[in-house]
Amino acid sequence: MNTTAARRRIVAGNWKMHGSRAETQALLDALLAPAQIDERVTCIVFPPFVYLSDAARTLRGQPIHLGAQDVCAEAPGAYTGEVAAPMLRDVGCDYVLVGHSERRALYGEDDALVARKFAAAQANKLLPILCVGETLAERDADQTYAVVGRQLDAVIAVSGVAALAQAVVAYEPVWAIGTGRTATPQQAQDVHAFIRGRVAALDAKIAAGLRILYGGSVKAGNARELFTQPDVDGGLIGGASLKADEFLAIWSAALADRRAH
Ligand code: PGA
Repeated sequence: MNTTAARRRIVAGNWKMHGSRAETQALLDALLAPAQIDERVTCIVFPPFVYLSDAARTLRGQPIHLGAQDVCAEAPGAYTGEVAAPMLRDVGCDYVLVGHSERRALYGEDDALVARKFAAAQANKLLPILCVGETLAERDADQTYAVVGRQLDAVIAVSGVAALAQAVVAYEPVWAIGTGRTATPQQAQDVHAFIRGRVAALDAKIAAGLRILYGGSVKAGNARELFTQPDVDGGLIGGASLKADEFLAIWSAALADRRAH
């Protein structure tokens, strides 16, 4: 499917549960200082919840967008410790990660809950980045497509395929997250093409416009060859997004290799 030209790339930094208030500010300042980032490639950062308000203030009017790492599926109410989608919107978030593999594996989030989070985000005008991906055991058992397909279908079943026009998908093989073991560009491309094909079977136009990010040990040194794959529309970066130079280099790789064709 040669429909890559219309899709604006995304480079997103998932800061996970890292950094102090001062370190968060310093990282934002470093990303903003060189004025290297602009809207040709969408840049999003995902600081911890407690730093979102500060970050929103710093990023106001700047070409870096703000997102949260998770969201509660419920409307505001008696849910101690949770953060509702309207609150994220209120403090200046435009994006939210849903179904990150750490949420699925460490906090027991299943496909049904992830689908509800996705719907809650969209109902509050947050753009969800739906994370999908298989474990090493699932890959070894040839279950990659079955798992990724199931994770995707769960969201489509609740929100409908049209909802993907206002969403992003991130393919993050669990075995590649934080391990230094990156999927090969071909492995990434194969799963990205599978995802796009599955959506295309329901709606070709939405599939053609859907941004599918790769995540899992993306670094400055491997970003470019990943981003040259026809169905890879950018990256969701963990560890390497905590170093400004490295993250800026990844962003530049996405810019340099924007398909001119
Ligand atoms: P990593 O994390 O880049 O450190 O592998 C990616 C992610 O968890 O989103």
